[in-house]
Amino acid sequence: MNVLITGGAGFLGRKLCAALLKRGELTDSRGQTRAIRRVRLFDVVAASQDDPRVESLIGDIADADDVRAALGNDTDSVFHLAAVVSGEAEQNFDLGMRVNVDGTRVLLEACRALSQLQGYPPKVIFTSSLAVFGGPLPDPVPDAWPLTPQSSYGAQKAIGELLLNDMSRKGFIDGRALRLPTICVRPGRPNKAASSFLSSIIREPLNGAEAICPVEPSLRVWLLSPRRAIENLILAHELPATAFGHTRSINVPGLSVRVGEMVQALRDVAGDEVANRVRFQRDDAIERIVASWPAAFTATFGRALGMQADPDFASIVRAYLEDECR
Ligand SMILES: NC(=O)c1ccc[n+]([C@@H]2O[C@H](COP(=O)([O-])OP(=O)(O)OC[C@H]3O[C@@H](n4cnc5c(N)ncnc54)[C@H](O)[C@@H]3O)[C@@H](O)[C@H]2O)c1
Repeated sequence: MNVLITGGAGFLGRKLCAALLKRGELTDSRGQTRAIRRVRLFDVVAASQDDPRVESLIGDIADADDVRAALGNDTDSVFHLAAVVSGEAEQNFDLGMRVNVDGTRVLLEACRALSQLQGYPPKVIFTSSLAVFGGPLPDPVPDAWPLTPQSSYGAQKAIGELLLNDMSRKGFIDGRALRLPTICVRPGRPNKAASSFLSSIIREPLNGAEAICPVEPSLRVWLLSPRRAIENLILAHELPATAFGHTRSINVPGLSVRVGEMVQALRDVAGDEVANRVRFQRDDAIERIVASWPAAFTATFGRALGMQADPDFASIVRAYLEDECR
């Protein structure tokens, strides 16, 4: 099995790569389970590679030549993670369209050409987002709810899903689109996602620094830990095409929690001194984007496929401490 991870130098890309190498094998679109020979990490920046099976390749997802080179003529599976994230896609419409829409189309067309060459379609796992939903929504949002994004990022992910669904229907690719909850706790530095503070309010206090929470404590959000996100991406890959009916899009199960409850869980796990480092100071622009996202889903289809969420937020904080703070 040869695997391509676009956005492979990013947060989830690196974790996915490590998990795939540990697992050692995957099942291709013909149902054949084989050892992973190569994981190619494609990104605009170099990815670290300390395993002989890993290759880092620098390129632009919207450049057809770069993408063809990344796929080569022997790629069985693609995890398409490269993206401009929500805050940046909102601030820079043209960049978001180029990377999130043009890049996805370029990649899927290249996968279609590869399918002709190989004689079987590559599996394509696409990381979509809950931002494809917005506006007045039922709580929880059922699986069959229309896509009404209220941000450019959400609209671009919705377009990517439609392309992936149609190309799967045509048999050009064997795609699966996972609408991931917000992934928390993200290690490292804050990024340009509007949801970045959801990690900062846990990570920074644990590192001895203050963090600003730009939304009301009562705001409810839909979260998943990096561990569960990676498990669900791999599970979605391993499912046979017959597990899907009229849609390849899946609302991934998550945890619905209020921001104030997140800080309370931090207090329970790490103590008052740590939790008191969170300061509430409203930022209307961030609150407007994050509040437009749904706070809970039934995720019926995802659960039926075997996908799992974290049991509570305290266990997400503990997982972060185990994975990132040792
Ligand atoms: N982290 C979350 O909370 C979350 C939630 C829902 C969906 N997602 C989606 O999951 C995916 C991975 O998210 P992440 O948190 O790891 O993001 P990330 O920003 O850490 O990684 C994205 C990677 O894409 C790369 N990239 C950007 N433009 C590119 C281009 N033109 N060509 C090639 N690579 C390019 C970036 O350099 C980066 O390494 C994204 O598609 C994101 O939209 C993430």
